Amino acid sequence: MQVTWIGRIFDRLDWLVFDVGRRIDHKDIPQAPPPAPTAHYGSFIARGCQGCHGDHLSGGPIPGAPPNIPPPTNLTPHETGLKTWTMQDFRKAIATARRPNGTTIHSFMPLEILKNMNEIELQALWNHLRSLPPRPLGQR
Ligand code: HEC
Repeated sequence: MQVTWIGRIFDRLDWLVFDVGRRIDHKDIPQAPPPAPTAHYGSFIARGCQGCHGDHLSGGPIPGAPPNIPPPTNLTPHETGLKTWTMQDFRKAIATARRPNGTTIHSFMPLEILKNMNEIELQALWNHLRSLPPRPLGQR
């Protein structure tokens, strides 16, 4: 994007933000831990789930999302979440878009991408989800 000199002055005075890159702290970028089936590595992968399932992964409607999108579900080990799921259930849900009760997971959940996760990533993610404190649905 071309920012004219007027825009640059406004940006430097923090009146209007044009130059977003200038505001990123390039020294404090989190590094991915080495790939391993650990909850620690899983917590890094789970950042990709938080935009929809919430910072605490307990789901609930995405603020500002269109009403035809189903609310993301609770991924914590709470009874309103994945408490009764096994690793096998999780693996199958990601691979086939089917829950243990046979219902289909809506296509807004990006399974076309997520089903490409390898075994280490799946196990890491599952170990992370199991390590979360159980939270009732909707606390985002
Ligand atoms: C673009 C938004 C989005 C992202 C990103 C996303 N999900 Fe989802 N997910 C959803 C929605 C919406 C549902 C509920 C679908 C439905 O009701 O059919 C869902 C459902 C699920 C379910 C089914 C759970 C249940 O109780 O039925 C699982 C498991 C799941 N997501 C895991 C994940 C994981 C793990 C990640 C990150 C690797 C992730 N999701 C990333 C939107 C998302």
